[in-house]
Amino acid sequence: MNTQKNATLTLDGKTVEFPVHSGTIGPDVVDIRSLYGKTGAFTFDPGFMSTGSCMSAITYIDGDKGELLYRGYPIEQLAEHCDFMEVCQLLLRGELPTADEKAEFVTVIKNHTMVHEQLTRFYQGFRRDAHPMAVMVGVVGALSAFYHDSMDITDQQHRDVSAYRLIAKMPTIAAMAYKYGVGQPFMYPRNDLDYAGNFLHMMFATPCETYKPNPVLSRALDRILILHADHEQNASTSTVRLAGSSGANPFACISAGIACLWGPAHGGANEACLKMLQEIGDVSRVGEYIKRAKDKNDTFKLMGFGHRVYKNFDPRAKLMRETCREVLNELGLNDDPLFKLALALEKIALEDEYFVEKKLYPNVDFYSGIVQHALGIPTQLFTGIFALARTVGWIAQWNEMISDPEQKIGRPRQLYVGATRRDVMPVDKR
Ligand code: CMC
Repeated sequence: MNTQKNATLTLDGKTVEFPVHSGTIGPDVVDIRSLYGKTGAFTFDPGFMSTGSCMSAITYIDGDKGELLYRGYPIEQLAEHCDFMEVCQLLLRGELPTADEKAEFVTVIKNHTMVHEQLTRFYQGFRRDAHPMAVMVGVVGALSAFYHDSMDITDQQHRDVSAYRLIAKMPTIAAMAYKYGVGQPFMYPRNDLDYAGNFLHMMFATPCETYKPNPVLSRALDRILILHADHEQNASTSTVRLAGSSGANPFACISAGIACLWGPAHGGANEACLKMLQEIGDVSRVGEYIKRAKDKNDTFKLMGFGHRVYKNFDPRAKLMRETCREVLNELGLNDDPLFKLALALEKIALEDEYFVEKKLYPNVDFYSGIVQHALGIPTQLFTGIFALARTVGWIAQWNEMISDPEQKIGRPRQLYVGATRRDVMPVDKR
């Protein structure tokens, strides 16, 4: 952090100065931590439109340029040259692994892929039609009850092992949520497969026959995981940090992140997008829905379009679009009506004046929903896949926060607009 200038604020005739910090790239920040002490006023920024909540060295986004960097590396290069295990190491440790380091990490993760047999009983407590995100919020939070020996958050080794456990077990937990829903037996992980291949196995294999993951589809899933691995201080990551700022254990914090991710304005968009495509149903009705999306009096939004930060094409969406085409070709689905409809919607929205003017491009969830549908993943599990991919980012951010010597419990203030002080009247006089 570099501090070479000050910002001046005048309030009620009093002038106060605040340091302005520069990072390595990106906008400067005005450090207003002393504002309340100096002036007695708070800042007001609902939705955090102009607020940097922390200092971070993990992910950088330039929304105008459409640029995304993990630890300085462009997402395009990582998607082309690395797999998800390497990206996990990059996010957690700050550097890409050597071949030996990678092999060691992969082995550690494989050693943690099974869940405690007792945990499998949790699933029976859910209805068969429970939403996988409801199951994941519950089961991931319940992991807290299994690892009392390694939950000292001040101990780096304990934090590391919690990170490995979460990364290794999330695919198992998500796949079990699916298997429970369809009434098939849980499939134990297979450590001879890679991370994505093992997940496909736990999803689609049955004890009755041998299952061999298709390498094109494994690679597509791996790419979904890379592209969703981290995204700076988004809503769920901020939730994880806020939950963690009180000293809560990592499993509880990740469970909080999953709960936040579930919403349709965040990770739930991929599911909402697929449902929207099914509701539109036919290319002939695209115009009608575009019209509704533009109507101020209609709450309908085109799911999978727009982004708080990207006001240019989401770089992840470009990559996901490529993967989408590869998967559709591999599976011979180019003529599938749903995929044709998605492509028609994309084309019309990209040319429509309203969407062009507001810079509403298709986001990553638009294409990842289509890819996941093609992979055979049920719509309800889309956000669960996002959660399993984002777990590493959440942990890296949580770890960074815990390691920060200046870390404090997150505690925003407010602009109070309720009743001023008044006296309680006895019930017969109200
Ligand atoms: N369809 C129609 N109009 C839209 C859309 C959309 N998808 N997105 C934004 N707008 C309009 C919005 O009505 C507003 O218009 P006006 O200025 O006339 O009031 C303008 O564009 C700016 O939108 P906003 O809602 O103020 O922007 P935001 O930064 O608060 O919201 C967003 C960003 C992602 C929540 C929003 O674009 C949205 O709801 N998109 C659909 C849901 C979606 O795809 N979410 C996934 C985001 S990517 C994955 C992730 O990071 O979680």
